[in-house]
Amino acid sequence: MRAKLVVGNWKMHGSLAANRELLRALVAGLPLAGSTEMAVCVPFPYLAQAQEMLAATPIRWGAQNLSEHSGGAYTGEVSGAMLCDFACRYAIVGHSERRALYGESDAKVAAKFLAARAAGLTPVLCVGETLEQREAGATLQVVYAQLDAVLDAAGAAGLSGAVLAYEPVWAIGTGRTASPAQAQEVHAAIRARVEARDAVLAASLPILYGGSVKAQNAGELFAQSDIDGGLVGGASLVVDEFLAICQAANC
Ligand code: PGA
Repeated sequence: MRAKLVVGNWKMHGSLAANRELLRALVAGLPLAGSTEMAVCVPFPYLAQAQEMLAATPIRWGAQNLSEHSGGAYTGEVSGAMLCDFACRYAIVGHSERRALYGESDAKVAAKFLAARAAGLTPVLCVGETLEQREAGATLQVVYAQLDAVLDAAGAAGLSGAVLAYEPVWAIGTGRTASPAQAQEVHAAIRARVEARDAVLAASLPILYGGSVKAQNAGELFAQSDIDGGLVGGASLVVDEFLAICQAANC
């Protein structure tokens, strides 16, 4: 059985003072979260704070993006090696906000995935369709294209030890969650797509669901056979919600 993982995506939220409160409360509430592996992906400037406050705890931390380059004249960019200087475990790649707002193509996302692997980070690769694409019946076509770009670049073996996240764009920050059955259907299709290349890898690959995950819907989502936890935005900033989501992953 695959272990459950819950990753918080803080997006561009936080301050030193607010993070201190939030991280302290998460650490204090850890027994509530049980044995679920928990991580927070914080804005770059707060990585040092996350490292300092979480190093001695079971909570891991990571970044929300990284450069596809290992170094050089790339003003404003952050490399995988820099993230490793702060002992990050995770780097989210291909989040739909990066794809839509910063023009990240499937090829760029694949390059970022490879950069994360090369640095020794665990990429959390996000895939997902827009509402328009879903309504046009193109969900799997879109998700497969996003996934195949990485499978082709990294090879199936390159996905070993990585994490996937299915995040339907229409469910992100909208309060509109995919139903457990809708999410399970796409998760199973993603796993089957990977299975076609490497069955052993597919069986062990964690596939998280993201998009308006809350304490109230987490249990039902995580009970689906191909949903291995969550990538949580808004609710990861609310201590009781995030702890309850992690608790739901234990059941
Ligand atoms: P949400 O965001 O939980 O606020 O919908 C999820 C995400 O964007 O990763």
